[in-house]
Amino acid sequence: MMLAQSIRRAISQLTPPMCRPLSARIVDKVNIEVQPAQSGAEAGTGAGAAALTFPGVWLRDNCRCPACYHSSSQSRQLDWNHFDPGVHPLALHVDAAKEQLYVRWSDAHESSYELDWLRRHSFDGQSQSAYLNDFYRPRTSHWAGAQFEQIAQRFSYDQVMAEDEALQHWLQALAVYGVVLLNGAPLDEGVVRRLAERVGFIRRTTYGEEFIVQAKPGAKNYAYLSLPLPLHTDLPYYEYKPSVNLLHCVVQTQSRGGSNLLVDAYHIADRLRQEQPEHFERLSRTPVDWNDIGSEDGREFHNIWRAPVICLDAAGDYTRINHSVPQRDSHFNVPLAQVLPWYESYARFVQMARADAHSFKTQPGDVLTFNNLRLLHGRTGYDDTADNSRYIVGAYLDWDIIYSRLRVLKQRLNKASGTAAA
Ligand code: OGA
Ligand code: ZN
Ligand code: ZN
Repeated sequence: MMLAQSIRRAISQLTPPMCRPLSARIVDKVNIEVQPAQSGAEAGTGAGAAALTFPGVWLRDNCRCPACYHSSSQSRQLDWNHFDPGVHPLALHVDAAKEQLYVRWSDAHESSYELDWLRRHSFDGQSQSAYLNDFYRPRTSHWAGAQFEQIAQRFSYDQVMAEDEALQHWLQALAVYGVVLLNGAPLDEGVVRRLAERVGFIRRTTYGEEFIVQAKPGAKNYAYLSLPLPLHTDLPYYEYKPSVNLLHCVVQTQSRGGSNLLVDAYHIADRLRQEQPEHFERLSRTPVDWNDIGSEDGREFHNIWRAPVICLDAAGDYTRINHSVPQRDSHFNVPLAQVLPWYESYARFVQMARADAHSFKTQPGDVLTFNNLRLLHGRTGYDDTADNSRYIVGAYLDWDIIYSRLRVLKQRLNKASGTAAA
């Protein structure tokens, strides 16, 4: 008797009894609530995983059986021409040992779901915001020019090219802060292409895949002069504006100029929104005609895109900023009465940006990488000499390609460290 008691006590200390096994129930006829198992230790403290609630219609839509889901392409193949949004669960069964939920549906179909998969697709607000603010797109952190040294991270070009972890850190910092400097790149013209191909592929524009920023007599683009280049975003006259600039400094001017200027326009927009909301309203509502007319490599082009300076999504978050003095069209297709107020607001925006700009000079081997949908950039004027002409090679990448690469890297890293992948 005594022996049996002490064996029981010893066993209970080794494995705390499962005081509540995995369970599931139908709620309001249409939803399914899954209650993960709770151990004895958790029960005592009130801890343990909270119940997860799933809309039945969504579970039916996301059935993972081979008839509904094509696993090698990770795609739904359910016949949606006959999908009934009134479908609802009739009966549930759980296998606690396998951590599986089984559902019989009103359309006579049967499905099973792994608890781990259910957890990763939870409708719980905290899980959804963690997914959206990191895995989907990292949340941006906005900064004033005076904070530049704190937020601008520097990575070695060689490490980014060789190590996935360095690649991930570069892309993550680019997403969060909008600017990163890579150092120590070789001085050949292929650097920006190799970097773009390390991420995915280069984004071509009117000006080619790689472009050379160099003072050229009779330049067809304002940037290809040695004059000061006022703050701007590149290609605001494109509906699909290239996302990220890679500017590789091959030769830097020895004259006093040639410095880059950078401003986080999201920070400027944040300030306007707070301090002068009427300016913010006008800049986010008034469509401006941006344009670029000319020819490149014998091909004529005439680009126009109409968009506000501050572009917002339905939730009021920034999607992009457009700003360019030379590339603003003389067509301004808005009602007369809106013109003067818009000019006042735009002049305020430009003054605030100029006052906040951080200036620095890149050195040969530096690659300045920044978000062209968010940062304004410019350049101070410079003087080339016979044996020193400033030479920058540029290229673009798109966010679709960058975020995709970042997610692949994060998932790979998560798998390697055993944490749950998204
Ligand atoms: C450009 C540009 C920056 C520089 O060509 O659009 O911003 O450093 N150039 O010359
Ligand atoms: Zn199915
Ligand atoms: Zn530019």
